[in-house]
Amino acid sequence: MKKAFITGITGQDGSYLAESLLSKGYKVYGLTRRTSTQNFQRIEHIIHHENLELVSGDLLDQHSITVALKEIQPDEVYNLAAQSFVKTSWDQPVLTGEFTAIGVTRMLEAVRFACPEARFYQASSSEMFGKVQEVPQTENTPFYPRSPYGVAKVYGHWITINYRESFNMFAVSGILFNHESPRRGLEFVTRKIANAVARIKLGKQQFVELGNLEAKRDWGFAKDYVEAMWLMLQQDHADDFVIATGETHSVGEFLELSCQVAGISDWRSVYRHNPKYDRPAEVDLLIGDPSKAKQKLGWEPSVTFAELVKIMTEAELIEEAKDRD
Ligand code: NAP
Ligand code: GDD
Repeated sequence: MKKAFITGITGQDGSYLAESLLSKGYKVYGLTRRTSTQNFQRIEHIIHHENLELVSGDLLDQHSITVALKEIQPDEVYNLAAQSFVKTSWDQPVLTGEFTAIGVTRMLEAVRFACPEARFYQASSSEMFGKVQEVPQTENTPFYPRSPYGVAKVYGHWITINYRESFNMFAVSGILFNHESPRRGLEFVTRKIANAVARIKLGKQQFVELGNLEAKRDWGFAKDYVEAMWLMLQQDHADDFVIATGETHSVGEFLELSCQVAGISDWRSVYRHNPKYDRPAEVDLLIGDPSKAKQKLGWEPSVTFAELVKIMTEAELIEEAKDRD
């Protein structure tokens, strides 16, 4: 039985990846940090699975991850844990650097000492392209990060490549463009919109307050993207890949379509601009070129933008109707 170790298992991607690996017959170990109230909503349905084990530790604590890896001896390590919200990275830049940048080195050091034969996946991000130097963005597009989060991810990307080249480790960096689902955190714009639109439809709130409606993102479905992570670790050689849909849409388009799905005819009537949600430096346009992933991994997205908006809005309509007073 193959063994996989996932950091960030309580997050959106970690929960989908754990589900997928369990269905492939893996024994899955998930790193969780201590919190005063449990934070297992996304993995509640698999928590009692006989092949899932949670391990206590933190990306800030080198010893906890080295000891866990030494004991488990995993075949595959997926480093998904991070301070992943771009806006917060301006409020907590040092902490973001600790988790999202140096945390990667802690993971790589733990693998190098405890289980050097394990294959390592680093969750890199299209946010590294920031002020884009090329359209669409490929594996060879130069980086120009626009947030402390983006800068931290560039560090994580290069330290992964450096450990591959220095120590001959099987370490890959997946440059994933935005991917969403009903399990997305409420602070991210897609889930925020889908949830607000459902609440407006059900008469629970009047408006949705947003920042920049013009920003464009290449949005895919999270379940598709965790399959790409797994595929990258099944190759003969360690390599880095862009994972994207190849399409871009604005925040405004997402809002308009979500309103359509909910049957709200005039999206402008429910929208308010709030400068609190604008960013000190914006990433205006992201659009990835997933050709290399298609050719070498045989990976393709299965959910279109319109389907994604529908999945997310309908999920919120169902959830919000449940706890209607
Ligand atoms: P997410 O939902 O925010 O999940 C982040 C996970 O990291 C949570 O399980 C969180 O645990 C854990 N974590 C944070 N700090 C930690 C620490 N110090 N020690 C241990 N665990 C810690 O993020 P996601 O959307 O699933 O994204 C997964 C990864 O992919 C992240 O690295 C993100 O930056 C990257 N990424 C995401 C996207 C995207 O569009 N979703 C695109 C490109 C890259 P708690 O539950 O305890 O907070
Ligand atoms: N969150 C949020 N809230 N974003 C808003 C809002 C709002 O009210 N109004 C407009 N936006 C715009 C942001 O300015 C940004 O341009 C865009 O919506 C997307 O914001 P997020 O959903 O917060 O995602 P992100 O693109 O900044 O970051 C996500 O994708 C990255 C990959 O490119 C995160 O998942 C990162 O962890 C990931 O690396």
